[in-house]
Amino acid sequence: MSASSLLFKSTRVAGLEVRHRIVMAPMTRSRSTQPGDIPNAMNARYYAQRASAALIVTEATQISPQGKGYSFTPGIYSPEQVAGWRLVSKAVHAAGGRLFLQLWHVGRMSHPDFHNGELPVAPSAVPFEGKIWKADPATGVGTMVDCPTPRALTTGEIKGIVADYRRGARNAMDAGFDGVEIHGANGYLVDQFLRTTSMRFLKQVVDSVADEVGAERTAIRLAPFLTARGMACPDILPTILEATQYLQTRGIAYLHLVEADWDDAPQFTEEFRQAIRARFTRPIIVAGRYDKVRAEWVLSKGYADLVAFGRPFLANPDLPHRLANDLPLATFDSGALFGGGRRGYSDYPNCRDTGRAGEVRKRRTSMPAPPTRSTFGSVAAIQSNQRHRFKPTAGSKVFTGHPNQASDSP
Ligand SMILES: Cc1cc2nc3c(=O)[nH]c(=O)nc-3n(C[C@H](O)[C@H](O)[C@H](O)COP(=O)(O)O)c2cc1C
Repeated sequence: MSASSLLFKSTRVAGLEVRHRIVMAPMTRSRSTQPGDIPNAMNARYYAQRASAALIVTEATQISPQGKGYSFTPGIYSPEQVAGWRLVSKAVHAAGGRLFLQLWHVGRMSHPDFHNGELPVAPSAVPFEGKIWKADPATGVGTMVDCPTPRALTTGEIKGIVADYRRGARNAMDAGFDGVEIHGANGYLVDQFLRTTSMRFLKQVVDSVADEVGAERTAIRLAPFLTARGMACPDILPTILEATQYLQTRGIAYLHLVEADWDDAPQFTEEFRQAIRARFTRPIIVAGRYDKVRAEWVLSKGYADLVAFGRPFLANPDLPHRLANDLPLATFDSGALFGGGRRGYSDYPNCRDTGRAGEVRKRRTSMPAPPTRSTFGSVAAIQSNQRHRFKPTAGSKVFTGHPNQASDSP
């Protein structure tokens, strides 16, 4: 590690002193205990293994049954879920880590099968192109399925959803989290409202969460350049800049920006980075195909204060150590991303503990290129790929939705 490395310079975020600038990006892994979408000991082990991140942002977590859009994702609305998340926060804190829970309402990115046959909800009832990953609970086999045209929310229902965000934030505090990140990116409900060029819903959600748990424990993730999932909106950049100004006045913990994570997508321009920085003086986190060199660059320009890594954290639980020492990075098993047990989840070794298995994993040192063009779409393609890979075979371990299957010792 070079003495001048900015990535390994300590800083403060959300009132916490952190030793470096490497954040673990939120990543859905669809391994909660069923029924009930309850986080479990295996999840606690997975997160604790990655506790050397400056901050962990958990996988997106639905604030209500209506907020769900993918199979086996965890919630933060029932007492059982709060107890499950407590296992996670305890394990991460015991390992010296810090963690924010990502609060999620998918809006129209969902399917009637998650809602007793009712339509998913959205700001308005317009058709759009979007797919979600849905598994058959009996077999654990998942496929990408189209989202139907949603129904429009009423004003009263919107108030109820804002209250659900508040309750989710309170529950996260009760579960021992250091804060919450509102998922305002990737075409989910907050983003759907933003693309109507209205900031009202974002403001209501941020206000209610910040009033409940404090602005210093409230953060948000936004995806300014997203165009997939029906999110192409010519006025989005001015809307995001206006929102940024509002977030600055609210004094939130940090602003987390999703950058292009596919090859030929529109990149953040320096002009846009400067416009964001001019409006937001508190910590900015960026994510999207960062490696050490690009991370040092974005920090050196002052455009960001921390850098979130997603895919590199999957197979490299000790990613900060590997980056600090320029060690090779292991590649992840794309067939084990969503659903399943500990294989391809909590069984990746640290460098220091590698035996033979670790050596084998380390042979390939580069990250595979994301297979598709959309921000979360790259994940969607991996999920789609999994349709072929994640089939039950004689003796194979397939997630069946049985409560005991997705459990492990912490
Ligand atoms: C398996 C997987 C699951 C993801 N789930 C989420 C999620 O729950 N919430 C979210 O905001 N982003 C999610 N993302 C996007 C990542 O947080 C990150 O922005 C993206 O992977 C780009 O970073 P990377 O190039 O370092 O992987 C996910 C990405 C992956 C690979």
